[in-house]
Amino acid sequence: MENKIYQFEYQKHNNPNELSEENQNLIDLSKKAAEKAYAPYSKFRVGAAILLENGEILSGNNQENASYPVGVCAERTLLSYAHANFPDSKKIKLAISVLDTNMDVSPCGLCRQTLLEYESIQDQPIEIMLHNKSGSVIVLPSASSLLPLHFNHDMLS
Ligand code: THU
Repeated sequence: MENKIYQFEYQKHNNPNELSEENQNLIDLSKKAAEKAYAPYSKFRVGAAILLENGEILSGNNQENASYPVGVCAERTLLSYAHANFPDSKKIKLAISVLDTNMDVSPCGLCRQTLLEYESIQDQPIEIMLHNKSGSVIVLPSASSLLPLHFNHDMLS
């Protein structure tokens, strides 16, 4: 038997001014997207913004439904749009903002798997920034860091 340990390093910035202008801009856009979220049921507004390799910056937000399970998180709304329109442009970094809590919020399991899919096929990590109402920002190095012992396309062939 072998004990294995999973660890990863990430940064928490209590002052977003410590971040690069590019990162601050992406966070601002994710916050603006969150303001337009369609979240009448949970009242938990989430926005996401992504920078693509071709320079495009896109944003999206959570889209809920009266039939609750039909709702889609901000991250997956955005990733589907990004990949539908720019399938050949790598996803460089993604910012996620939540407006309605001071707690550190991190993507749900479905979104982690979705992020991992796009990260795996492009063979380059997607940096993820998490921003909340308190203004703090967590910077994660990759989607795979959020999903230890994951399943991806390599295992299908
Ligand atoms: N939500 C997101 O959009 N992204 C997350 O990372 C966490 C949760 C949404 C889903 C739902 O519309 C609402 O927040 C409450 O769960």
